[in-house]
Amino acid sequence: PAPAPDIRKGLTGVVVDTTAISKVNPDTNSLLYRGYPVQELAAAKRFEEVAYLLWHGELPDAAQLAAFRAGERAGRALQPNVRTAIDLLPTTAHPMDVVRTAVSVFGASDPTADDSSPEANLAKAKALFAALPAMVAYDQRRRRGQVVVPPRDDLGYSANFLYMTFGEVPDQLVVDAFDVSMILYAEHSFNASTFTARVITSTLSDLYSAVVGAIGALKGPLHGGANEAVMHLFEEIGSAENVTPWLDGALAERRKIMGFGHRVYKSGDSRVPTMKSALDTLIAHYDRPDVAALYDALATEFVARTGIHPNLDYPSGPAYHLMGFDTPTFTPLFVASRVTGWTAHIIEQAAANALIRPLSVYDGVEERHVPVVVGR
Ligand code: SDX
Repeated sequence: PAPAPDIRKGLTGVVVDTTAISKVNPDTNSLLYRGYPVQELAAAKRFEEVAYLLWHGELPDAAQLAAFRAGERAGRALQPNVRTAIDLLPTTAHPMDVVRTAVSVFGASDPTADDSSPEANLAKAKALFAALPAMVAYDQRRRRGQVVVPPRDDLGYSANFLYMTFGEVPDQLVVDAFDVSMILYAEHSFNASTFTARVITSTLSDLYSAVVGAIGALKGPLHGGANEAVMHLFEEIGSAENVTPWLDGALAERRKIMGFGHRVYKSGDSRVPTMKSALDTLIAHYDRPDVAALYDALATEFVARTGIHPNLDYPSGPAYHLMGFDTPTFTPLFVASRVTGWTAHIIEQAAANALIRPLSVYDGVEERHVPVVVGR
């Protein structure tokens, strides 16, 4: 009999290509963006500089950063046709469906959509980077019955994102915590949504189609949707003293506890310490020791009982909650950040020019034949 095929469900452990964009190392629990440790970038750089690094392979000098920032400011305003498209959707639509639709309309309206040259793709990537905050901010405001807040040119990316969402610029430490989250979410090699974008790009389809597909993949609670799911968990548990009985039940039901575990990292997510310290500044700023108590109780007990560690979505969820974002807005924030990594991979994949198409082993009914009907 033929040897059993080597089926690797979920592509677990399967290396399918090289990439020069980031290096995830579970053995050293490290993450490098174009060679720089992400912790160092989060401590010393703004998200605009990290976005530039992912696309260009180098950090910008002062002149390059000034030009990049000018371009980003020029692309911030919510486009009228995108706003009209968002307004077609009910305010009950999931914000990930809204942002997926908004990006689709944005792309379909771009006359350069099908120009997949590196230069054209880079321009589209930067246009999406600039335009996504207004889409995400508008959707949260319209769900709250609030009017659009136009962008402010005197603010950097993160401060402006918060301004368009809440109508005011929060304390600098809140802006800094948000900026750190954008840097940490930006890129993570061949995660499900990035690989989705690469598969779509591998057929020579366009950048916007690939980003729309990636948004679809990111929505799932096993991936980006986990940051929203973490907040639902916190609301379900309520407070630290409920953790043990709640966990008894959840583990007995063999529930997936979102915010924990990772396909690549097995002894903890390299990004968690940096995001946790950002969360700690927010907990102190907003005087929310109850959030700290619940966060620590659930993490400590879950790790002790399962050996499974928190991932980046675990500290990000409560951090976005303390900043004032509605829970369903959390994953669109992940989109606004990850669009940088996705588009860097789209540009890299387009250059590879190689179709991604795996095999499958058939296990359906054996070959059979249609009965012949006499007289037909
Ligand atoms: C992100 O890939 C990336 O890089 C993603 C990401 C990025 O930056 O792009 O890092 C962002 O998506 C982070 C992950 C967010 N997802 C969640 O928090 C959802 C909860 N996590 C699990 O669903 C799970 O940990 C995965 C999906 C993240 C990874 O799962 P794997 O690698 O497929 O491992 P597994 O599910 O086979 O788990 C091994 C065992 C299983 O037990 P058995 O079924 O074999 O008995 O551990 C258990 C799992 O049931 N397990 C969990 C668990 N995670 C693993 N059990 C309960 N809760 C969990 N969270």
